[in-house]
Amino acid sequence: MLKVAFIGWRGMVGSVLMDRMRAENGFEGFEPLFASTSQAGQAGPDIGKPVSPLADAHDTDLLAGMDIIVTCQGSGYTQKVYPELRSKGWNGYWIDAASALRMADDSIIVLDPVNRKIIDQALADGVKNFIGGNCTVSLMLMAAGALFENNLVEWMTSMTYQAASGSGAKNMRELVSQMKIIGQSAQDLMADPASAILDIDRRVLDAMSGEDFPVEHFGVPLAGSLIPWIDSAMESGQTKEEWKGFAETNKILQTDSPIPIDGICVRIGAMRSHSQAIAVKLTRDVPVDEIAGMIGAANDWVETVPNTKQDTLARLTPAAVSGTLSVPVGRIRKMNMGPEYLSFFTAGDQLLWGAAEPIRRMLNIALE
Ligand code: HSE
Repeated sequence: MLKVAFIGWRGMVGSVLMDRMRAENGFEGFEPLFASTSQAGQAGPDIGKPVSPLADAHDTDLLAGMDIIVTCQGSGYTQKVYPELRSKGWNGYWIDAASALRMADDSIIVLDPVNRKIIDQALADGVKNFIGGNCTVSLMLMAAGALFENNLVEWMTSMTYQAASGSGAKNMRELVSQMKIIGQSAQDLMADPASAILDIDRRVLDAMSGEDFPVEHFGVPLAGSLIPWIDSAMESGQTKEEWKGFAETNKILQTDSPIPIDGICVRIGAMRSHSQAIAVKLTRDVPVDEIAGMIGAANDWVETVPNTKQDTLARLTPAAVSGTLSVPVGRIRKMNMGPEYLSFFTAGDQLLWGAAEPIRRMLNIALE
């Protein structure tokens, strides 16, 4: 029976992966080993069958006995352990949610509803490293994959509205703390229906700029505001998150000549679902109904939302999609610039299709 090690399964992405695996009966057909960077020897997780105590995730001799290693531990762990394992001659599958190996020549970025053929070819060619993509890129491709598949994209912009979860669990906590302090700052005025809204606004602004306002992780208020900068600076003037939109999309699709993709990535006060406003210059004029049909038929999770206020409010928001695998695409329409200019809006759970789900599915593919 194949041996599969799991590392980083207790963190935020790892916990979502574990939940999805339990829900899909995903621990059958192989021998799992759970490893930890800090709690070796303690009891393993409840997966509905007995598991050995936690192994040491830095024990590369032990890991070298695995057929497959699945890690959600992060890039630091990958950078330390992965080269050591390969230098020992380990030839198993490395399935990783972190970005460290994503752009390496011997890695495939996995998003099987979009690039299954590329994954299958890579497996046949002996590729061993299968890496989850950036959350925004994966969610954009789950939504808009059909346009690329049908060679309809001359260029694309993606203006993002990214949730706190993308920057980590501590940031999500900080967002909730910020919301709480904002609520408390105006509590007495809010209790009085006759109080002036500009007094409430002043209190909120004072609270947000107060010394006690928690900004350790974001650096500035996110609740009641937004942050138009995600990740580090690149020489191009883009942020790294913006650079990934172009680099990773073209790598996932293995385009012959790269398709220009760019935009501005913005952190907003949503908890765990990213949204994106997309504009596309189409390679030709295609009627909007035809485009909506293509988008909706691309995979089992994308669904088109009619361009009405009622449907948009009910189905096309971070709150509506959080905790689900659904990737709604709405506001689909042609733009004033001409019949070859399309815009639409999409939202999706950053921890599911944005992180854990492509990894869970890649494990199943590797086990096939
Ligand atoms: N980099 C993404 C974000 C999350 O900051 O939202 C990981 O793909």
